[in-house]
Amino acid sequence: MPSTAPLKIGLAGFGNVGAGVYKNLIKNRDLLRERTGREIEVHRIAVRDLSKKREIALPEERVTTDLSELINDNEIELIVELIGGIDRAAEFVKAALEAGKSVVTGNKALLAERGRELFEVAQANGTHIYYEAAVAGGIPIIKTVQESLIGNHIQSVAGIINGTCNYILTRMTDAGLQYPDALEEAQQLGYAEADPTLDVNGWDAAHKAIILASLSYGCWVPCDSIHVEGIERVTKPDIDFADQLGYTIKLLAIIKLHEEDGAIEVRVQPSLVPKDHIISSVRGVFNAILVTGDVVGETLFYGSGAGQDPTSSSVIGDIADAVARAGQESSQGFVTHELYGQPLPVEQSVSKYYLRVQVADQPGTLAQIASILGDHDIGILSMMQPEEEEAGAATVAITLHFAPFGKMQEALAKISALDCVQEEPVLMRVESI
Ligand code: HSE
Repeated sequence: MPSTAPLKIGLAGFGNVGAGVYKNLIKNRDLLRERTGREIEVHRIAVRDLSKKREIALPEERVTTDLSELINDNEIELIVELIGGIDRAAEFVKAALEAGKSVVTGNKALLAERGRELFEVAQANGTHIYYEAAVAGGIPIIKTVQESLIGNHIQSVAGIINGTCNYILTRMTDAGLQYPDALEEAQQLGYAEADPTLDVNGWDAAHKAIILASLSYGCWVPCDSIHVEGIERVTKPDIDFADQLGYTIKLLAIIKLHEEDGAIEVRVQPSLVPKDHIISSVRGVFNAILVTGDVVGETLFYGSGAGQDPTSSSVIGDIADAVARAGQESSQGFVTHELYGQPLPVEQSVSKYYLRVQVADQPGTLAQIASILGDHDIGILSMMQPEEEEAGAATVAITLHFAPFGKMQEALAKISALDCVQEEPVLMRVESI
């Protein structure tokens, strides 16, 4: 008989998302009780700093600063981990699983770095890890891949999974802002953290891509096997050239199965997307993920990829799942198998490219660049050089045919070393997702 007693939760972390979970569990308490058959009660809350000013007041009688109190409290069945970080969170989650408590987490870095080990601990203890909030905030992409698309070989997962970068790139495109101004605006609006490094260097999206790739292909993709570039080097001239060429620049996560050998391609890079592609029209802090399966074909998921309420919606969905699965011994959430191959070395990944080079405005310059590209078997698709430039310098934007990234990098190194090249060239992918 399933339990009808209240489900008592230990909530670790009362930051933006933790407070949102608490607030929304109270707001929709009756609805959740009717739908799950159990009262859901936040029994204990662990915070690091009791004196921190908070928009949502902490219920003082339930608060502790000691994480182990949540583990040692026998009334708590489920832990919700929203403390962030990796090592402390890993020790805490491990201890919870070993104590027989299932865990809901929104911690993408934790799962990308330590997921393999944590799922093994869950398996060994008959407990579960739920992690819908770790990828794309409020978009239910984990359950979609894990459950709804279970009957598919996932051919690709591609899209925008970092709202901060998408906001910055949208403002650079729509309002003509330079990167530092767009970043500052994102910080003022609370879309970017005071330290925005993990967002703008691509690693927030990369951690999410690793989770999606691992889930799609049944193996933990190591962090050092994927290629990651952020948006820090995207400039207004690139946005303008892309626009004139018919593209929008987006930070894309690309996860792709190579059916011939089972290799799995995973990369995160600023990329040129055709303006008429649906992903181009995803603006501001929104996320959008295209999932293609061999049975279902193309599917698209769009919504808020961050924020207190959307992310707490995913956490609460996981809590409800935990109610439904309470007492089931077999661990679920991540099933490993060996049906697919290894991560593809990025040098072997193939795409079209955009290259911007600032050169000395003198005869023979373009010929030298074209010759290097030709020597590396890379064909030119288009070339653009605006007339109005400062004296002695010219900026050339070139789009290139499909080529392996390794070849492209070799050619780029040679182009960079040319005497006529005045600045480090900018290379981006042109994606036909
Ligand atoms: N900072 C992330 C984003 C949300 O901007 O999408 C949390 O991963």
